[in-house]
Amino acid sequence: MSISAVINVDIDGPRISRHIYGHFAEHLGRCVYGGFYVGEDSDIPNEGGIRLDVVAALRALDIPNLRWPGGCFADEYHWMDGIGPKAERPVMVNTHWGGVEENNHFGTHEFMALCELLGAEPYISGNVGSGTVREMSEWVEYLNREGDSPMARLRKANGREEPWNVTFWGLGNEAWGCGGNMTAAHYAQEARRYGTYCRDYGDAKLYKIAAGASDFDYDWTETLMKQLGHLGCQRVKSTAYQALSVHYYTMAGSWDSKGSATVFDTDEYYATMVKAARADELLTGHSNVMDCYDPNKSVGLVLDEWGTWWDVEPGTNPGFLYQQNTLRDALVASVHFDIFHRHADRLVMANIAQTLNVLQAMILTDPDSKALVLTPTYHVFQMNKGHQDAASLRVDVRGGLPAREVGDASLETVSVSASRKDGRLLVSLSNLDAEAAADVEIELRGGAVSAVDSLILTAGALQDHNTPQSPESVTPRPHEGVAVAGGKLRVHVPAHSFVTVAGDIG
Ligand code: AHR
Repeated sequence: MSISAVINVDIDGPRISRHIYGHFAEHLGRCVYGGFYVGEDSDIPNEGGIRLDVVAALRALDIPNLRWPGGCFADEYHWMDGIGPKAERPVMVNTHWGGVEENNHFGTHEFMALCELLGAEPYISGNVGSGTVREMSEWVEYLNREGDSPMARLRKANGREEPWNVTFWGLGNEAWGCGGNMTAAHYAQEARRYGTYCRDYGDAKLYKIAAGASDFDYDWTETLMKQLGHLGCQRVKSTAYQALSVHYYTMAGSWDSKGSATVFDTDEYYATMVKAARADELLTGHSNVMDCYDPNKSVGLVLDEWGTWWDVEPGTNPGFLYQQNTLRDALVASVHFDIFHRHADRLVMANIAQTLNVLQAMILTDPDSKALVLTPTYHVFQMNKGHQDAASLRVDVRGGLPAREVGDASLETVSVSASRKDGRLLVSLSNLDAEAAADVEIELRGGAVSAVDSLILTAGALQDHNTPQSPESVTPRPHEGVAVAGGKLRVHVPAHSFVTVAGDIG
């Protein structure tokens, strides 16, 4: 396959928010307990119970933000249960995820300590489903109020003098389902009410994110946009919330039978890639609705849950959502990022579900040992981190991209995106074809590119993955198949591989 494209390296597109490389950590399975948080008495090196090798691995990704405590868990979480002396914190049942006991040892202070260790911005999902407006309003006051007030006094009594100034707040989660089974119209009113009482304190100007649609439910998005201001296609007015979310998961089959993470054939692989590629249709559809009400794009779109969702690994708790992560997952991620870069004008944040030991994780930790495994998906985040806060660059392809028929769908088998930041060009290329290599020639206009280096992530088989015994089966390696000459960048992209190319722009 030969592909010919053009990039104008001197024509900046919209900035790619670093927050599209965001993360999500829920009280679910071994994400928090036994993942991030091993407790102060653990023999695994930790600070205040937070596992330090996990912190180091995520810092290497320049993790920009972390969403917590859910997910579905957020709408049954009562934050006051998670502050004060640990021995006095009440135990609750995590009804969504395995019916296990939650001792509340990881609460607000522990989460904020984690974010400080990570150097990541906190994003807190409030409880709209089973909480109260007062409860959420007081949580904001507890975290952000500097001057004297009941919640500031309580925070200080619990050992934290200065406010944390958390700006990202979610107004509930999946309000159409586990977050209260509300209609869109009812939730939109609730979001306005909760949003009203989440106050700005000091310099912390809140960025409130309304719980948005599932998948392609454009009516939900339209209802939330209408509730922000006027009816019809006019300028948005209300400040009750600044963004809407959407959740979109990728699987080969259906919700009843999602498929195995590691045992799949080529047909299932291509079916997965078709679902991943539909993220473009998803973001286009929701953006189009938002454009109608907010043509200046002042309201953000947040994909605050995305990624692959497979059947749990055999023998593991079905409520813990533990799954392996193969080269296929890595390609799902790389395709999503190309799509996100193309939607940088509206997409302000995207958080993969979930950081550790749950769904499409960055890191898998072994419950029986200290072993930590970086997944193929982790490496995509690492290879792509140069796109964070970069100016997106258009990639124009002559004659279109190669495609193959998959059932009723047509799947483009090569995906490319590019950006520039601090005088460096970064191009990401995914070849989704299971068998055929692609040769991509990119004419670089508007600047000379030199000192090119390249990495490749691939493996012998799509099913290959990393384990404690074989932690580098799928790991980035230097890529030789790159050359720049005469204003052209030539990249050989082997079958089922992800390649990044970086170079100085002169
Ligand atoms: O990420 C797992 C679950 O998926 C979340 O709790 C929920 O928001 C979604 O349905």
